[in-house]
Amino acid sequence: MGWSTWNRYGCHIDEQLIRETSDMLVDHGYRDAGYSYLNLDDCWQSHERTSGGDIVIDSVAFPHGIRSVADYVHSRGLKFGIYSSAGRQTCAGRMASSGYESQDAQTYASMGVDYLKYDNCNYDEGVSARTRYEAMAKAINATERHILLSVCNWGTENTWEWAGEYGHSFRTHDDIYNDWKSIVEILNVHATVVSNSGPGNWADPDILEVGNGKLTVDESRTHFSIWAAMKAPLILGHSLNDIPKELYDIVMNRDVIAVNQDPLGLPARRITHIANDRDIWAGELANQSMVLVIINYLDKSQVFNIDVNTYGYIGSSIMAHDLWKNNKVELENTR
Ligand code: DGJ
Repeated sequence: MGWSTWNRYGCHIDEQLIRETSDMLVDHGYRDAGYSYLNLDDCWQSHERTSGGDIVIDSVAFPHGIRSVADYVHSRGLKFGIYSSAGRQTCAGRMASSGYESQDAQTYASMGVDYLKYDNCNYDEGVSARTRYEAMAKAINATERHILLSVCNWGTENTWEWAGEYGHSFRTHDDIYNDWKSIVEILNVHATVVSNSGPGNWADPDILEVGNGKLTVDESRTHFSIWAAMKAPLILGHSLNDIPKELYDIVMNRDVIAVNQDPLGLPARRITHIANDRDIWAGELANQSMVLVIINYLDKSQVFNIDVNTYGYIGSSIMAHDLWKNNKVELENTR
């Protein structure tokens, strides 16, 4: 769980934003709710390397360097994430790590990096994704610093079959965009691969769009619920200083976060799918519990009759807990 610069700020980032966001992650309660990573995405680098091959930082945006920013993030009790690409340049054309994996991994470790999002732009034709991600994984391991590796290759080359050998999460789709349609598209892909997700190898449907001004409250709640139930990384993507209270309350719903962080780490799977009508996702949780997410795609209410026994529930009574209304209803399991 954390926050990333990309969805809201793109390349408009600088050290002041990172310091202020660190403060807000703490002061607005996000860190204590579990959002512990602050991730700098594309555009912290310049377009160059030094004559010795070291990556050059964008000194206009980060005049005090990345280490000082990382130190500040750490001083607020947060972890620090950074970004590069398994290619020659990042997607925004900044200097990336292909061919310099060892040197860059040492640089990231010396900067105090805890998380590396490793993107998939501008690579040499003919070099497989697997080879490119393996090179960075080995380079990170050689630093002996614990750095979480996010395999951000958008689900290409059957990522789910091999990403877990090298990284800790794998993207399943190309970029999310700030629209409900994008979320539906991602779910349709994610549904086919999410069963490969689990502890140490999390399927990542991308950074959240809650709070970025386009999704309705219902869409935001649905987006957050299903990301949580799929055990997706919950990486916030909004500006922390102007989120409306009703959306803040969504990403801070501690019961929904607890589903996401459930110790079993089993992703909910899509059990029922009727296009443009409904989805039902179900997942096992610890303590003989299960999570159900019902998505109503219609513009009107629907009544759903759900037999939880068919979704793997085995208890003799049922305590149904609506995590949004926070009401609990006890039912007999009449099976
Ligand atoms: C593509 C990734 O999918 C995005 O999340 C973001 O990291 C951009 N690249 C940055 O250029």
